[in-house]
Amino acid sequence: MPTLTINGQQVTVDVDPTTPLLWVLRDHLDMTGTKYGCGIAQCGACTIHLDGRATRCCVIPVSMAEGKAITTIEGLSKDGSHPVQQAWIDLDTPQCGYCQPGMIMAAAALLAESPDPSDADIDRTITNICRCGTYPRVRAGIHRAAELAKDAAS
Ligand code: FES
Ligand code: FES
Repeated sequence: MPTLTINGQQVTVDVDPTTPLLWVLRDHLDMTGTKYGCGIAQCGACTIHLDGRATRCCVIPVSMAEGKAITTIEGLSKDGSHPVQQAWIDLDTPQCGYCQPGMIMAAAALLAESPDPSDADIDRTITNICRCGTYPRVRAGIHRAAELAKDAAS
């Protein structure tokens, strides 16, 4: 049975090792913050962090996540205080909200690598799909999160 480290906690799940990680999170562990969109690594709704890297977990067999640090939207911060979450609140970024956990996780991974990304960096890196078309607000949110992180560090 695969043993996983999710948001700092170890859990063992009774599933076939080929089960996609997204199904384990949602169906076996009731962690429904991570969303299902396409199931073929195209939309980004299922983005989590695997050892800090943005990863579309609908196509990752759970066995591949063993021994890695898995972070989901539920574990990005204890209280919604991550700069990306704060920026999203400040700018009212979501519309329907469905794609937003994936957007936030992708944005957080980008900012961890690149604390002050350009619009071109954002467009190249954040390839998540939003059916509501929140792309301009996502971009503004990432710039706002970069400012908040910089202020917090100074
Ligand atoms: S559900 Fe995983 S990328 Fe769309
Ligand atoms: S906010 Fe509705 S799909 Fe993105």
